[in-house]
Amino acid sequence: MTKFGEHWEQSLRDLAAKAGAAAVQDANIQGKDIEAMYIGNMSGGRFIGQEHIGALAADSLGLNPIPATRVEAACASGGLAFRQAYLSIAGGAFDMVVAGGVEKMTDVLTGQATTTLGGAADQEWETFFGATFPSLYALMAKRHMHDYGTTEEQLAKVSVKNHANGAKNPYAQFQRELSLETVMNSSYVAEPLKLLDCSPITDGAAAVILASEEKAKQITDNPIWIKASAQASDTLALHTRQSLTGLAATRTAARKAYEQAKIKPGDLDLAEVHDCFTIAELMAIEDLGITEKGMSGKHVDQGEFTLDSRLPINTSGGLKSCGHPVGATGIKQIAELTWQLRGQAGKRQVNGAEIGLAHNVGGSGATVSVHILSR
Ligand code: COA
Repeated sequence: MTKFGEHWEQSLRDLAAKAGAAAVQDANIQGKDIEAMYIGNMSGGRFIGQEHIGALAADSLGLNPIPATRVEAACASGGLAFRQAYLSIAGGAFDMVVAGGVEKMTDVLTGQATTTLGGAADQEWETFFGATFPSLYALMAKRHMHDYGTTEEQLAKVSVKNHANGAKNPYAQFQRELSLETVMNSSYVAEPLKLLDCSPITDGAAAVILASEEKAKQITDNPIWIKASAQASDTLALHTRQSLTGLAATRTAARKAYEQAKIKPGDLDLAEVHDCFTIAELMAIEDLGITEKGMSGKHVDQGEFTLDSRLPINTSGGLKSCGHPVGATGIKQIAELTWQLRGQAGKRQVNGAEIGLAHNVGGSGATVSVHILSR
């Protein structure tokens, strides 16, 4: 992956090419070995005026004339690109495929980025009336606080934890620790969510190489296995949902993924979850079955999910500290799990990690992918 952050000096083309070249080098293969590309990108058209991202990325990586397909599912574009690559190999169409994700978000002002991101919500029922992503997740946070006694301090502790991990990640946008006091004193964006409860606006790209079992064994002694790939959908707008305190699509995708992998949440050694806002991480912890419903905040209070805990969550720094270039995030999660499972995660290494989960959410939960990887 590229470092995530503000990359004024690099174009979307440069970022995609850099991440793709790094993946090819890491896999110790030649570009000509790759048979197809799937690339996640949410909104090249509205962020930088560039559509047709599949062809652009294949060209910039020198991969023409392989089939190159852009995948769009808002902030879950990367997770779905990975899943499409997986399905294309599992279905027997290809033996080696690159899955990537890229987004260039900082060329526009925050207001324009907010409007563009708002396109992932329901334009007719939500965004048209002024809803933004921070405000939609603020509604979910309010209801979670009302129903379960979750506090702003518990939300802030998620941010503190993720920044502590991001401080150890050379690819992260914000490589700095934050105190609880700093998070609590940051200004409200949409009450109860403060600036330091929000993932930032980010440029970046990530890429991974997927191969069939036979091919993988030819090129490496140390492959990472995809144990499960699941995806689910829900209503675009919040008002038609049964509950605001969790994401039904996460629960469905997680159930399918655990079944495929034949594991239980308690078997996980680490997880990268979609913390676009701190409340989103708490809801993910519950929807993935890691804690009981409504209990995640209390577990955070007890110091769980930190790097040295039984189940570290968001070792990369998560979306909060590592950054959130929306189309690339799902692939970054896979890259982080891969490094962790290979024992190559440096200062943020989870000792003896064998099974990891990646959870990627589009919009306010209308699309979710869950992948389980093992070494
Ligand atoms: N976390 C940590 N620091 C952040 C930050 C974040 N999320 N966002 C900005 N900062 C820092 C900046 O680096 C800057 O610091 P500096 O003054 O030392 O350089 C400062 O805070 C102000 O940044 P600025 O870029 O002016 O903030 P902004 O007001 O333009 O944007 C948000 C802040 C929260 C509104 C914006 O990051 C946002 O909309 N985030 C949500 C993105 C989103 O919805 N993604 C999709 C999720 S589904």
